[in-house]
Amino acid sequence: YVRQGEPLGLGHALGLAREHVGEYPFVVLLPDDLMHHSSPLLCDMIAAHQRTGRSVVALKRVPGKAIESYGVAVPADKDDAGPVIELAGMVEKPSLAEAPSDLAIMGRYLFTPEIFDLIDQVQPGAAGEIQLTDAMAGLAAKGGMSGLVFETGRFDIGTKPDFLKARVEFALDRDDLGPDFGKWLGELVRERGL
Ligand code: G1P
Repeated sequence: YVRQGEPLGLGHALGLAREHVGEYPFVVLLPDDLMHHSSPLLCDMIAAHQRTGRSVVALKRVPGKAIESYGVAVPADKDDAGPVIELAGMVEKPSLAEAPSDLAIMGRYLFTPEIFDLIDQVQPGAAGEIQLTDAMAGLAAKGGMSGLVFETGRFDIGTKPDFLKARVEFALDRDDLGPDFGKWLGELVRERGL
């Protein structure tokens, strides 16, 4: 493993993996974005890369002000119905007024090794960090980035509600825990009149 040592941003962290990745395409999974095991997202991203040769980022439509917590994609064609769309750019945590779309970057990425040269060129951006989003914007400007728009199966366990929902849903899915836990949960909900 590689230790980042200093919190200099996601782009900086990824740059440290360069020697380990070598010359192959690779995926990046942010562990606070949890995907349900039934989600085909990563397989679909790999298939999209195999079809197009481009890097691919997972995107989800996020309405209203919540968009300000995310990197936001600029679609090359606003009317592209997807689910795989070509991207023209990317902005890290814009204000709602400046957001170029409602397509938020979720923590699943597939990159070609080209991303490392772009990370090397990035200057500290939002929050003074080396932002992966800025390196991706460079790749998108060269026509090297696709987005895959998905809808379900994601828990943002950096928020308290999703942290709790993920634990309950994943426990219910397990053969060894689900039946008893589900029975208890049902009783609790009835008792509380929820
Ligand atoms: C990071 C990325 C952001 C992305 C988000 C997804 O932000 O910088 O582009 O939308 O993960 O969860 P963070 O949540 O680490 O602030």
